[in-house]
Amino acid sequence: MRFEQRTVTCGFLRPEHAGQQVVLNGWVNARRDYGGIIFIDLRDREGVTQVVIDTSHRPELDEQIRDVRSEYVLWVKGAVRLRENPNPKIPTGLIEVLADEIGIINAADVTPFEIVDDLGTNEELRLTYRYLDLRRPVLQRNFLIRNKLYQITHRFFEEEGFVEIETPVLTKSTPEGARDFLVPSRINKGRFYALPQSPQLFKQLLMVSGFDKYMQIVKCFRDEDLRADRQPEFTQIDVEMSFITQEDIIALTERFVLQAWKEILNYEVSTPLLRMPFKTAMERYGSDKPDLRYGLELTNVTITAGVCGFSIFSDAVASGNVVMALNAKGCGSFSRKQIDELGEHAKKYGAKGLPWLKVSGGEVTGSFVKFLSDEHRDLLLQELKAEDGDLLLFSPGEWERACIISGALRTEVARRTGILDGVAGTYSFHWITEFPLLEHSEEENRWIARHHPFTAPMDADVSLLSSDPTHARAIAHDLVINGYEAAGGSIRIHTNDVQQTMFDLLGFTREDADAKFGFLLNALRFGAPPHGGIAFGFDRLVMLLCQTDNIRDVIAFPKTTSGLSLMDGCPSDVDTKQLGDLGIALTRQ
Ligand code: AMO
Repeated sequence: MRFEQRTVTCGFLRPEHAGQQVVLNGWVNARRDYGGIIFIDLRDREGVTQVVIDTSHRPELDEQIRDVRSEYVLWVKGAVRLRENPNPKIPTGLIEVLADEIGIINAADVTPFEIVDDLGTNEELRLTYRYLDLRRPVLQRNFLIRNKLYQITHRFFEEEGFVEIETPVLTKSTPEGARDFLVPSRINKGRFYALPQSPQLFKQLLMVSGFDKYMQIVKCFRDEDLRADRQPEFTQIDVEMSFITQEDIIALTERFVLQAWKEILNYEVSTPLLRMPFKTAMERYGSDKPDLRYGLELTNVTITAGVCGFSIFSDAVASGNVVMALNAKGCGSFSRKQIDELGEHAKKYGAKGLPWLKVSGGEVTGSFVKFLSDEHRDLLLQELKAEDGDLLLFSPGEWERACIISGALRTEVARRTGILDGVAGTYSFHWITEFPLLEHSEEENRWIARHHPFTAPMDADVSLLSSDPTHARAIAHDLVINGYEAAGGSIRIHTNDVQQTMFDLLGFTREDADAKFGFLLNALRFGAPPHGGIAFGFDRLVMLLCQTDNIRDVIAFPKTTSGLSLMDGCPSDVDTKQLGDLGIALTRQ
C-alpha cells in the first residue's frame, strides 16, 4: 500500500501557511457531502484540519473516497488556503487543505460509539473499547498534560539534587494499611510476594544507605474499595530526604506544585500555603481534606445542644459526645423529600438520623423544634448565624464521626446548591498537619497507625505515647487541593528503640515485629540519618490539572470500580496447570 508520510500534523496549520503544499495523515473525524464538494475533518492527536475535496473539478477523487467514513485512516496531499467560512472554535479554523491527492491507509468498521467529546455513551462501553475512547480529543489532551507532568517532575527533582532509584515490585507482604495484592512464588511454593502499596520501607532504607535525596515515579498497588479518585494500581511521585525537617519537605513540595501549575496552566500558586491542624479542619469543615474554595463552615453547638431539652442531643452530650451543625445557607426552601435525601446521605457516613430546623418567614420549623424552649431555639439560631431561608442540619455523636457526617453534608449541600459548579476552574491548596499518630480500631481492638507505623510523633507528644496515645500527634503533612488528598508524608522514626516502642503500641509482639519488620529494625541500628518525605498521588495531580473528577480520565487503561479491566477482561481465570505449577488449589470456582 502506498501512502505519503505527513509533513505537518492536523493541529499545525495557520493562515501564514496559505499557499504551501502539505501532506496530512489522520483519522476521519467527520465527513460532509455537498454534491460536488466534500469536506472531511481529519484528526490526529494535535488537532483537526478541514480537507476539501472538489469532486466537481476532480471527479477521479470521488471514486477514491467513495467508501470513506468516520475513523478511516487517510493521507491527503494538497495546498493550504484560507477558509471562506472560518471556524473560530478550533485553532486551525481559519484554513483548510484543498486535496490534490488522497488515499485510504486503512478502513474502519463502524465504531461502537462516536468519537466525540461530549458523548453520552456509557462508560462501560467506552472502557471496553478504550483504545477508541482514547481517540477523543479531551482524553488526548489529558494524556499530553500527564506527559508534561512527568517531564516537569523529572526536571524539577533533578535540579533539586534528587536521585531516581527503582525499588522492587515483588516485595514482602506487610500488614497495616490496605490489603496487598499477592503474587505466588513458583520456585518457593506456598510463599507469596506482595505488590508494593508504596515503596515506603525501601525509600527509608535508601536513606540508611546514604542516598540522601531520593525520588521515583512509581506504580503502587492497593487492594481496597475503589472510588472516583482511587484505582487499585496508581502512580506516586515518591520522595524521601535525609537531615531535613518537616519545613524542608513542605517548602520543596510547594516549589514543585508552584512550578507544575505555572508550566502547565500558567496558574500562579500563591505560597507559602495555608496550614491547618487536623483538629481545626475537622471542626470547621468535617474533613481532613476539606475543599476550601467555599465556606459553609460547621459549628460545634455541643454546649447549647446538651441543655436544649431534646433528648437525642442531651443523651449524646451526657455520654461525652458532641453535636456538630451545618447552616445550609439558603436551603430553607428544600422540600421534605430533599431533606430526607440529605438524611440518607448522612446515613452513608454513619448518621442514625438527621435532626434539622428551618427558618422561614420568621417561623422556625423542624424535626425537633417542639422539644426546644424559645430561649434555646434562639440560642441555637444565634450560634449558627441563622437567617430567614436557612436550613440547619445537626449531627450528634462521637466527635470525629459527627464531624465527618457534617462534613459530608457540607459537600453535598455545596453540590446541590451549585456552589461547587461556581468554583469550577479555581484552585485551593493547603496543608493539613498535626494528625493524630494513632487511631483505635474497634474491629481489631488495638491501636493502628493513622499514616503508617514509621511516622514520628511530634516532639512535644512523645511522652503521650505511654500515658495517653489518643492525643499523640504525628509529624505528618497532607497536601490538599480542592478537597482531594494530593500528597501525604511525614518525618519518620529513625531510631530502633522508638520504632520498637511504636510496634509495641500497635500490639505487635517482639517476635511478630521481628518477623515482619526485622530488616527495618536492623537497619535503624546501623546509623540511620533523620529522614522524612512525601508521596504525591500522580494521577490525582493530573486529574486536578485536567479539571476532571474521575481518575479514570487520566489513566490510559484503568480498572472499573469493581476492579475489572473491561477491555482485556482481567482479572481472568487461569488454567489448572498454571495453578498446579504454583502449588495452588482453588477452594471455590
Ligand atoms: P499515602 O498512602 O498517603 O502515603 O499515599 C500518597 C498519595 O497517593 C495517592 N493515593 C492514591 N491515588 C490513587 N488511587 C489510590 N488507591 C491511592 N492511594 C493513595 C494520594 C495520596 O496522598 N508511603 C506514604 C507516603 C510517605 O509517607 O512518604 C504513602 O504512600 O494522593
